[in-house]
Amino acid sequence: MKGRILVVDDERAMQLALRGLLSKEGYTVETAGSGEEAVGKIEGGDFHLVITDLSMTGMDGLQLLQRARAFDPDLAVVMITAYGSEKIAVDAMKAGAADYIPKPFDNDEMRVLVRKVMENSLLRRDHRRLLAQVQGSYAFDQIIGRSPAMLRVFEAVQKVADTDITVLIRGDSGTGKELVANALHYHSPRRTKPMVKVNCAAFSRELVESELFGHEKGAFTGAVAQREGKFEAADGGTLFLDEVGDMPLETQAKLLRAIQEKEFERVGGNTPIKVDVRLIAATNHDLEAQVRAGKFREDLYYRLKVVELVIPPLAERREDVPDLIKRFLTDAAERFNRPVKPLSDDALRACMTHPWKGNVRELKSVVEQALLLAAGAEISTADLFGGATPARPTNAAAAADLPATFKDAKQRIVEDFERDFLTRALARHGGNISKAAEEIGMYRQNLQQKMRELGISASDDGDAPA
Ligand SMILES: Nc1ncnc2c1ncn2[C@@H]1O[C@H](COP(=O)(O)OP(=O)(O)OP(=O)(O)O)[C@@H](O)[C@H]1O
Ligand SMILES: [Mg+2]
Repeated sequence: MKGRILVVDDERAMQLALRGLLSKEGYTVETAGSGEEAVGKIEGGDFHLVITDLSMTGMDGLQLLQRARAFDPDLAVVMITAYGSEKIAVDAMKAGAADYIPKPFDNDEMRVLVRKVMENSLLRRDHRRLLAQVQGSYAFDQIIGRSPAMLRVFEAVQKVADTDITVLIRGDSGTGKELVANALHYHSPRRTKPMVKVNCAAFSRELVESELFGHEKGAFTGAVAQREGKFEAADGGTLFLDEVGDMPLETQAKLLRAIQEKEFERVGGNTPIKVDVRLIAATNHDLEAQVRAGKFREDLYYRLKVVELVIPPLAERREDVPDLIKRFLTDAAERFNRPVKPLSDDALRACMTHPWKGNVRELKSVVEQALLLAAGAEISTADLFGGATPARPTNAAAAADLPATFKDAKQRIVEDFERDFLTRALARHGGNISKAAEEIGMYRQNLQQKMRELGISASDDGDAPA
């Protein structure tokens, strides 16, 4: 979408000229013949840019500017000023106009100005939306649940939220542990500081330790430069130790020391580094059993489970299923730009009895795929669970077709996620591909390849091609 523009001028000829010029550029253009008419259109339509003459009978350009900005601070307003009215143009800029253009202007001038202002306006909107999403996604109302088990979780989260108490979150894969960890951080006094995550299962011992504590140059093969660890990155904030049950024993000893002494050294270094970090840990293992088996240090276990939150499997709290479905349907509809469709009665019943071995994560992906697949007005059981429904008679062609469609839908979901994830990582580093690649632990070439596949372009500041 290129953007929606409202042209306001009491001269019909100017309205028509600008509409002609800007529609040719691909914008959607509407016109208004007075400030009053323009206010009505602005409040009723979803405009990105208003181009208005400054002097009009009735409400003039400056008054319109004020009304427009009061209605939507992100709406860009460009003033067309008469020759010699620079002083008023400056007033307009002070009052929040995005820019002004003196009469007479030529078409190229106008095109360039509109392109620039429109780009900024769209960027600002995106930014605001992202921000709202980021803040909103950690609000309590993002965690759905009315089952007694979830209510207990909410209560506990609220109780410990304004403390530095270490919390251990337990639950099977996909039950929402990370969501709860986010809620704990974003409701704590540390919310303005970083929430840093480490997956303790993802790497070899060397790499887990370097992830956690950083390393000095030459500490091990491949340590080509000094690197800051996640403990340092989380200073002042929260460190989330995900899959802590998979941490190697030797690393557990180092972690314990870092917790007890609030101090550690980088791998291969001997300068003690002090940090102030709140810890949240999560695991889907039975840690007591691991302690008994000698795979997890008992002393560390007690350090981590000062408060323990247990999230039961979804199958043990089926009363949460309908609310979760509703939330995932509305979210997915917005994300994929599709209308929301209800589940048929059969489909809902099927959801209430499905085993949900993958817990909430499985429910979410099933619902998202079904929304993309559903051809009818309602989502059917077959849309949700595919050909696996025994009662469903299929002809060979349809059966052969279905997996491909499923795969496509899934592919799209994954790609959307990746695009969003990588774009944000790049944005955090001002478009610098090398730095973004380092942060997310990808080779630079692989990241570039992924970006090409997903159609992401980078501004590439100071980032010379390999
Ligand atoms: N109560 C809930 N309300 C809304 N969304 C939820 C809820 N629980 C989980 N989800 C969603 O389900 C997905 C999986 O949740 P999350 O990543 O927190 O699980 P996890 O327990 O950390 O899983 P794993 O052990 O595999 O890492 C996420 O998309 C999350 O937003
Ligand atoms: Mg997780």
